[in-house]
Amino acid sequence: MTMVEFREVSKKFGKVEALKNISFTIPEKTVTAFLGPNGAGKTTSMKLVMGFLKPTKGVVFVWGEEPWRSEGVRSRIGYLPERPVYPMDIAVENFLNHLAKLKKLSKIDVNRVIRLVGLENLVDRKIGTLSRGYIQRVGIAQSLLGDPELLILDEPTANLDPSARREIIELLKTLHKELKVSMIISSHIIPELQEIANYAVIINSGIALEYGYLNDLWRKYEIEAIFIIKTVDVEAAARILIDKSYVHYVKKVSNSLEVSIDPEHYKSFENLLTELSGLIKNYTFKTASLGDLYEKVVKSGSQESV
Ligand SMILES: Nc1ncnc2c1ncn2[C@@H]1O[C@H](COP(=O)(O)OP(=O)(O)OP(=O)(O)O)[C@@H](O)[C@H]1O
Ligand SMILES: [Mg+2]
Repeated sequence: MTMVEFREVSKKFGKVEALKNISFTIPEKTVTAFLGPNGAGKTTSMKLVMGFLKPTKGVVFVWGEEPWRSEGVRSRIGYLPERPVYPMDIAVENFLNHLAKLKKLSKIDVNRVIRLVGLENLVDRKIGTLSRGYIQRVGIAQSLLGDPELLILDEPTANLDPSARREIIELLKTLHKELKVSMIISSHIIPELQEIANYAVIINSGIALEYGYLNDLWRKYEIEAIFIIKTVDVEAAARILIDKSYVHYVKKVSNSLEVSIDPEHYKSFENLLTELSGLIKNYTFKTASLGDLYEKVVKSGSQESV
């Protein structure tokens, strides 16, 4: 079922046209990577989904309703803004209690989100004394108040060091698994979204260049996962592997086999290699990358417009 639909949406700020007749859909229960360079229109799109902005032209539907008109829709969405501002002198728990009150929620709800994001031991700390990674957890905690069905996270890992970024991605993965919450996550740092996203919307200069399930996009843009396999019998191994429907090709490269497969089948392929342990000595592989996809989409987009 469609969760979000942009139908020929334009958004102008004075003379600046942030979105130009953009159309895309996002299905229910996905984790969507929202990709695009600075000024592409990611934040503007997210604010339209939140109902903070109203389209200049066209319609945004979320669960079949227009968010700017519908308090009901807005209450089902949690939002982590791009540059959140927090009261630095206030303790974590007091801040969340305050927000909970505004949303007519109880302390039980606050304790729940504190637990979900792993802030149990820091509830009495003033927000200003926390590391950036932990401040971001406060932001994620507030976005989870009210048990939203959709979380919109605008660059949740921006300005964090690599280990804090990892932790935030791990946390989001866990939240998606435990709460079954849909997510739309924007980021510049593309590879880190790869392990959590199963859907992507790629925008550039206010238009959607591409959108869809990653499994479909890998195929459409001919992005493969490649295995390099060392085997005791190159011919025998090649015969078995080429038989699989998801194998694109098997190539002999010196004493090894190079095998290209549909990225979505890499788990079953690994299982097969394990089963063939008598024949296969070892293997390495390179997964399909969201970065490769992004580059191919942007390249084919610019070719089309020439
Ligand atoms: N309130 C506003 N007033 C004027 N122009 C705006 C406003 N908000 C956004 N814009 C402009 O709209 C365009 C899209 O901005 P937006 O913030 O949506 O991009 P973004 O993809 O989120 O970029 P970034 O990666 O830098 O966060 C930019 O040219 C921006 O300057
Ligand atoms: Mg932005």
